[in-house]
Amino acid sequence: MRLGVIHILNGPNLNLLGQRQPEIYGRATLDDIAEACAALGAELGLQTFCRQTNHEGALVEMIHEAREAAQGIIINPAAYSHTSVAILDALHSFDGPVIEVHLSNIHRREPFRHHSHISARAEAVIAGCGPQGYELALRFLASVLGRGGA
Ligand code: DQA
Repeated sequence: MRLGVIHILNGPNLNLLGQRQPEIYGRATLDDIAEACAALGAELGLQTFCRQTNHEGALVEMIHEAREAAQGIIINPAAYSHTSVAILDALHSFDGPVIEVHLSNIHRREPFRHHSHISARAEAVIAGCGPQGYELALRFLASVLGRGGA
């Protein structure tokens, strides 16, 4: 576990942020979000590392890598939130705080999005704040990890 390092992990289709259903997910790209988090992280004394994959097993492996490399995780598992016990189990192997983020308010959407397996392991869940949700998660982590901020 590396002090002050936060991994921001993103699941399937989030590589298309900015192009995919902008009426739901907005116009910001994942690179925009990564840049905003890096800038905020620098203010808060946190180093961020933003990753994305479209594959469930790859997301599991990214979580395993975070065991050694990160002090906290911000994760938007996207559609796997609603289906993946494997990602939940992987998160149970991580010792630090985990914040689950969804750009959209999943509770206002189709019933199949209302339940997230991941929430059972998350210290906090942020949904419906758009890209700002990632920054709120980072501020919360800074406060939980005692690094100033929120
Ligand atoms: C999402 C919500 C999920 O239901 C959906 O499958 C996504 C994105 C969000 O950020 O709002 O891909 O996690």
